[in-house]
Amino acid sequence: MKNARIIGVGHYVPERVVTNHDLEKMMDTSDEWIRERTGIVTRHWVREGETITDLAYNATNMALERAGLKPEDIDFIIVASIAGDAQFPGNGCFLQARMEIPGVPAMDIRNACSGFVYALAVADKFIKTETYRNILVVGAEIQSTGLDLSTRGRDMAVLFGDGAGAAVVTATDEPDRGILTTHLHADGRYATKLWSEFPSVINHPYITHEIVDSDRIYPKMEGRYVFKHAVSKFPEAIMEALEATGYTVEDLDLVIPHQANQRITEAVAQKLGISMDKIVSNIHKYGNTTAASIPIAMSEAWEEGRIKDGDLICLAAFGAGFTWGSVLLRW
Ligand code: COA
Repeated sequence: MKNARIIGVGHYVPERVVTNHDLEKMMDTSDEWIRERTGIVTRHWVREGETITDLAYNATNMALERAGLKPEDIDFIIVASIAGDAQFPGNGCFLQARMEIPGVPAMDIRNACSGFVYALAVADKFIKTETYRNILVVGAEIQSTGLDLSTRGRDMAVLFGDGAGAAVVTATDEPDRGILTTHLHADGRYATKLWSEFPSVINHPYITHEIVDSDRIYPKMEGRYVFKHAVSKFPEAIMEALEATGYTVEDLDLVIPHQANQRITEAVAQKLGISMDKIVSNIHKYGNTTAASIPIAMSEAWEEGRIKDGDLICLAAFGAGFTWGSVLLRW
C-alpha cells in the first residue's frame, strides 16, 4: 500500500509587522497583558490589496521548490481556511488559477484551527487509495480584516495573525514512512463558543446595515471555555495517535501543535511530560494564524534543521467547532 509523505514545506507571512505596542494605540490593552496571557509579541497583518490567494501562492511556491516539483506535477489541491477571498467559490479554485493548472481538482476545508490537520488526513486517504500522487495541502488565512480593533473586541483582536503554510504530500512505497495515522474529531455542541455569526443566510437578506453596524459582525469567543477544552483535547489527540501506532511520548522527536496560545502549549507539554525543546512554538512572532499555523511552524522547523529524516513527528490541532485532531508521521 502507498504511504503519504511530506516532501516539501513552505510558508509566507505578509510584510507588515504589528506589535503589541501598535495595538495599544488602537484599543485599551498592554504589551504586558498580551505577553503574559498569550506569549504573543508581534503578528503579521496584510496591507490593503493582499489576498489569501497571494499568501497561499507564495507558500506554495516555496513548498514546490523544496519538493523539487512544478505546479503541473500537482494532481489535487486542498486549501484549509476560515475565510475566503470571496464568499464563493473557495480559495482552492483561486489558488489553482494562480498556479495555472486548470482541470486539477481543488477543494476547500473550513475547519478553523484544525483545518490543516483535517486537510492532511484527506490527502493521506486519497494517496492511500492511489487516487492521486502529488497533493498540495495549504493552510492560509487573513484574520486581521475581520477583527474588532476597538477595546470591545480586544480579547480576540490581540490573538490573531495572517499567513500561509503549504505542504507537498506525495505517494511513497516505503513502509513506516510518511503519515502513519490520522485522528479527527468535532463536537458541534460548542459551535457558538468560538464563532463568527455573520454574514449568515438565515437572515433575509443575509447582510443588512444593522448587522454591519452591530458588534455581531465580529468573531466571538468565550476565552476561558476555549482554553479549558484546548488543554484537554490537544493531549487526548496526541495520545490517540501514539496509542494507535504503539509509540510512546518518549518516542516523539517533535510535536508541532496549532499555535493558539503559549500558555496552552505549555500546559499540553506539562500534561504529556514532554520537554518544551521538543515542541515547536513560534506564536511570539505570528500570533494565532488558525489553519496556517501548523504548516508555518513545520516549514520554519524544517528550515532551522529541527526536522530530520526519519523523525517521528506529531501534529495536533484544536479550534472552532469545536474541532480537534492529530497526524503522526515519520519524516
Ligand atoms: N487586553 C487587556 N485586557 C483584556 C484583553 C486585552 N486584549 N482581553 C481581555 N481583557 C480583560 C478582560 O476584559 C478581563 O477584564 P475584567 O477582569 O475586568 O473583566 C480580564 O482581561 C481577564 O479576562 P479573561 O478573559 O478572564 O482572561 P484570560 O486569562 O482567560 O485570558 C485569553 C484571555 C483570551 C488570552 C484566554 O482565555 C485564551 O487564550 N483563551 C483561548 C483562546 C484561543 O486560543 N482561541 C483560539 C483557539 S484555537
